[in-house]
Amino acid sequence: MEQFKIDIDSGLSAVPKTLPSKYFYDKIGDDLFVQIMDLPEYYLTRSELEIFTTQTQQIIDALEVKPDTYFELIELGAGDGLKTKKLLEALDKQHYKFDFFPVDISQNALDTLEDRLKTELPTISVKKKQGDYFQILASLKNTHHPKVVLFLGSNMGNMTDATATDFIYELSKNLCENDKLLLGVDLMKPASIVLPAYNDSAGITRQFNLNLLHRINQELDGNFLVESFSHIPEYTEEEGIARSFLVSNSKQTVELKKLNKTFEFEKGEKIATEISRKYNDKIIQKIIQGADFSITQKLTDSKEYFVNYILTRGKNEG
Ligand code: AVJ
Repeated sequence: MEQFKIDIDSGLSAVPKTLPSKYFYDKIGDDLFVQIMDLPEYYLTRSELEIFTTQTQQIIDALEVKPDTYFELIELGAGDGLKTKKLLEALDKQHYKFDFFPVDISQNALDTLEDRLKTELPTISVKKKQGDYFQILASLKNTHHPKVVLFLGSNMGNMTDATATDFIYELSKNLCENDKLLLGVDLMKPASIVLPAYNDSAGITRQFNLNLLHRINQELDGNFLVESFSHIPEYTEEEGIARSFLVSNSKQTVELKKLNKTFEFEKGEKIATEISRKYNDKIIQKIIQGADFSITQKLTDSKEYFVNYILTRGKNEG
C-alpha cells in the first residue's frame, strides 16, 4: 500500500502523467486479464499456446535436461498455467525429475494456480514462491541444481528496453552455466493486427485500463470520474511499441484524499498507463548483449506472430 501511494503520487505529478501498468492486477484486473486472453483480437496467448502444444518436444530437447538429473523449473509470473501445463505434462510423461516453482508477487494468483494443478496434474510437485523475482532466484541459486526459468506471455514487453536489459542481466547473474531461460515475446507486426489486440470490440481492454482509476479511487479515497476518461491505444510499426493511455475528456480536478492532494487534468490530457513492446531478433540480441546468454533455440507459431527463445547461460561468473 505504501509503495502504491508513492507510485501513484509521483506518476500523477509527472509531466506527462504516467501510471505503472503493474497496478492493473488487483482482483478485478486479474479477472479482466483472464478475459483478455480469450478475446478473438488478443492473439498473443493463443500463439504461444500453439508453440507449447505443437512443439513441446522441441522445447524439451532445447532445454537439455536429463531424465535422471533433478532440475528446477521456475516460472516468473504464475499466469494461468495453460501453456506451462503442456510442458509439465510432457515432462511428467517422460519421467523427468523436477519441482515446479511458480513465482509471483500475487499470493492470490499462486493459490489459484496451485489449486488448478493439484486437480489437473496431481503428480507434479508444485512449490509456490511468493515475492520478488530476484530475491527468489537468489535464494534458489544456493541449491546448485540445474535450472530452467520460464518468462512467458511477452510479460517483458511491459518494460522499457533499458529495464529489460537490466532485468535479463540480473537474471543471468542468478543462473549457472548451461541453465536455461525460456523467453516468450510478441513479434513486431502490422498495426492492423497489433492495435485491435489492445482495443477489442467487446471493450474488455478498455475496462482493464480504466480499472486502474477505480482501484485508485478505492485504495486512495479518490474521486476520479472514471467515465470521463477514454481508453486510447497507439502503435507505431517503426518503433514496435503498443502504448495505452487514459485521456481526460474534460478539464477537471481529481482529489485523492489519502494523499491530501488534488490533480489537474486538461481536456485531452493523457496518462500513459502501459507499453507493450514487440520484438525481433535484433532487439532481443541487444537486450541480452551484456548478459552471458546466447540464443540456442527459437520457436515460432505458424503465423509467426510470437516467439519462444531458449537462451543458454554461458560460463562467465556474473
Ligand atoms: C501481460 C503484459 C503481456 O502487454 O499484452 C493485455 C498485458 N495489456 N492487454 C500485454 C495487456 C492490455 C499484456 N502482458
